[in-house]
Amino acid sequence: MKDVYILAIESSCDETSMAIVKNGKEVISLVINTQMDIHALYGGVVPELASRMHTEAITLVLEETLKKASMKIEEIDAIAVSYAPGLTGSLIVGIEAAKTLALIYDKPLIAVNHLIGHIYANNIENDMKFPLLALIVSGGHTELVIMEDDYKFKKLGETLDDAIGEAYDKVARVIGLKYPGGPNVERLALEGNHSYNLPRPVMDDSYNFSYSGLKSAIINLTHNAKQKGEEINKADLARSFQDVAIDELVRKVDKAFRETNIKRLVVAGGVSANKYLKEQMDIVCQKYDAELLVPRLLYCTDNAAMIGAAAYPLYLQKSFSDFKLNAYSHADIC
Ligand code: KG4
Ligand code: ZN
Repeated sequence: MKDVYILAIESSCDETSMAIVKNGKEVISLVINTQMDIHALYGGVVPELASRMHTEAITLVLEETLKKASMKIEEIDAIAVSYAPGLTGSLIVGIEAAKTLALIYDKPLIAVNHLIGHIYANNIENDMKFPLLALIVSGGHTELVIMEDDYKFKKLGETLDDAIGEAYDKVARVIGLKYPGGPNVERLALEGNHSYNLPRPVMDDSYNFSYSGLKSAIINLTHNAKQKGEEINKADLARSFQDVAIDELVRKVDKAFRETNIKRLVVAGGVSANKYLKEQMDIVCQKYDAELLVPRLLYCTDNAAMIGAAAYPLYLQKSFSDFKLNAYSHADIC
């Protein structure tokens, strides 16, 4: 079969990224232009600024991606773009770029769900075998799904309120760490002990998650200490939070292994960059003699290579999009 080269575009949040991916697996080139330092000045992503910066960066990122691959757009077989979920103003920049390239160079356009992209990041350096459990842990989502085949999903549960990444970012802010909070909380937690008694989410025996109670407890604890003039041990608080937050994931994954008999787990989304999470997932996978896949660090957080990987099965099915393609802030994967 002829090799398939997909030019993929990702601009759902604060990274402008493009990649050329061969046959859904081989990353020929990948460019990620992050706006993180600018948003850090404001303590979080400012949507209006994000869209403007995507607009400024996108043609430069395209040039660099083609240059790194030593390829011309004429040699590309399809243009893929993430269309949801994310910041609509940011997504639109990528979508318009994709439509323009598809129109001018007469290439098929492939619309990719950003979360499905995170799952397919696991297919870049490994082969996902089905059925599998996929744990999605990002800044906006916390979900556990069964994947029966390419693009065949069945949701087990999701967060009823905040996403785990959102909780990490909020905790970071409250204890005075820079955005993005996740990696900074993880670093500080390494220096601390689990000395704070934080509430565990309600044990309702479902597959759903909840992080707002944990987040609020940390906000209240910090405010109360401030009012009383007491010192908070930030490292201990980070460690206590991380233990409870990750344990919640472990409990649900354990239940899913027990109840479904599935023997594979893939972890997807920015929080999969967390080492403690990986260690804990490794332990639960060993318990059930299951295989664990976590993307390489570069592919854990937002990047266009994962969009190229997720676009490949759609290319094979000829699931192409028309030029009415729009951006959506929310979109379920099933
Ligand atoms: O998937 P992602 O890059 O963007 C979204 O699609 O949301 O995920 C970003 C989230 C942020 O909340 C960030 O704090 C979190 O992933 N994150 C981490 C780590 N690295 C990134 N959370 C915990 N530990 C990390 N090492
Ligand atoms: Zn993401």
